[in-house]
Amino acid sequence: MQRRDNPYTPGAGRKPPYLAGRDRDLEEFSSLIEILSSGGADRSRIFYGLRGVGKTVLLMELDLLASEAGWATTDVQEVGSQPDFRSTFAQMAARLLREMSRRYRIRDRVERALGVVKAFSVVAPGGVQLKLDVEAVAGVADSGDPEQDLVELLREIGQTAASAQSGALFLIDEMHNLDAASLAAVCMAFQAVSRDALPVALAAAGLPDLQVRLMRAKPYADRLFEYRELGRLRDPEARVALVKPASLLGVEFAADAAAEVVRLAAGYPYFLQEYGRELWNAAESSPITTADVEEVRDLVQEQLARTFYGTRFEMASDAEQRYLAAMASLGDPPYATAEVARAWGAENQRQTSPHRDSLIQKGLIWSPRRGQVDFTVPLFAEFLLEHHPIGGFDDE
Ligand SMILES: Nc1ncnc2c1ncn2[C@@H]1O[C@H](COP(=O)(O)OP(=O)(O)OP(=O)(O)O)[C@@H](O)[C@H]1O
Ligand SMILES: [Mg+2]
Repeated sequence: MQRRDNPYTPGAGRKPPYLAGRDRDLEEFSSLIEILSSGGADRSRIFYGLRGVGKTVLLMELDLLASEAGWATTDVQEVGSQPDFRSTFAQMAARLLREMSRRYRIRDRVERALGVVKAFSVVAPGGVQLKLDVEAVAGVADSGDPEQDLVELLREIGQTAASAQSGALFLIDEMHNLDAASLAAVCMAFQAVSRDALPVALAAAGLPDLQVRLMRAKPYADRLFEYRELGRLRDPEARVALVKPASLLGVEFAADAAAEVVRLAAGYPYFLQEYGRELWNAAESSPITTADVEEVRDLVQEQLARTFYGTRFEMASDAEQRYLAAMASLGDPPYATAEVARAWGAENQRQTSPHRDSLIQKGLIWSPRRGQVDFTVPLFAEFLLEHHPIGGFDDE
């Protein structure tokens, strides 16, 4: 097999040749678009899950669905890098409006809405200034209160979309990066457009604590959105994710070889892509056999240890690395923070709580509920037990 034909897509946000196990999410989203387009009400979608389960590529697929249905979309936008979330929303809004203007004949309506975007962005502190060739519209979305202004901005977008019999889709990635005040404003705004039955929807993704963060920001967030967990693929789906990209190019897998890879990858999409890529490069001929799997196994594991796990582990300070190792030593997740502190060697929890907070901040762990922690990266505990056992720290 030629390396240059390798169909596998290990990485971040790289569209796989076959998106396995997401049919239901895609169908449900198509129907959401249809319902909102015809003036009905449906809840926006929040997807959450561990690193590498396929959140970003799913959002990319929803982007396509919405575009095909005639909606304007923001493209998938990662939030949290700007000092004020309003800058990101202003950019997204401007993008939606330009797309509507390109697709539909509503220039004047768009012009006014861009004026609102301008007013909105002017009051957002420290953001990137948008180059908008319009006059700011006074008195709409420019109070300086983030909640009120975002509500008015989204209404403006929704009304503009409705006037073109189209819709507007916000696609937000890494949404757990937003602080509570920003999340609260987002909830308010999407509640307002849904109350007015405007064709505006949100498809967002983030780490598993996104749902809890939203609910903490606005208690009604549990009913405002539909939440979907993205996790490991079930065996038949994982098998297809592995086998299909090759079979589309005439290369098959022996059944026992495919089963072995599914087991090694534990059904995680990113791991399946890594194995697929190395198997394609290593195998001499079709079908790919268990001997081939045996041959690449160590290579893939080393690669994952170096890149996927190793780089994350290096993000942690010495004390934090010890905290990670302490978590892994405790067996099945989630881990009680009191026990982690003990395994770490602390006299009390207060001593380790800054490390815990910092690891959460760095996105390496999350808190399923008060007093508990878990890893954000699949199979991180296994990696730590093998490469950085807690015993190893005691020797230092
Ligand atoms: N349903 C799927 N079927 C097959 N491959 C997939 C699927 N979903 C994702 N992948 C592959 O898995 C990898 C990770 O996908 P993606 O970057 O979307 O994950 P993510 O959840 O956004 O991760 P992160 O939290 O790190 O941003 C990519 O290599 C992608 O090609
Ligand atoms: Mg992602």
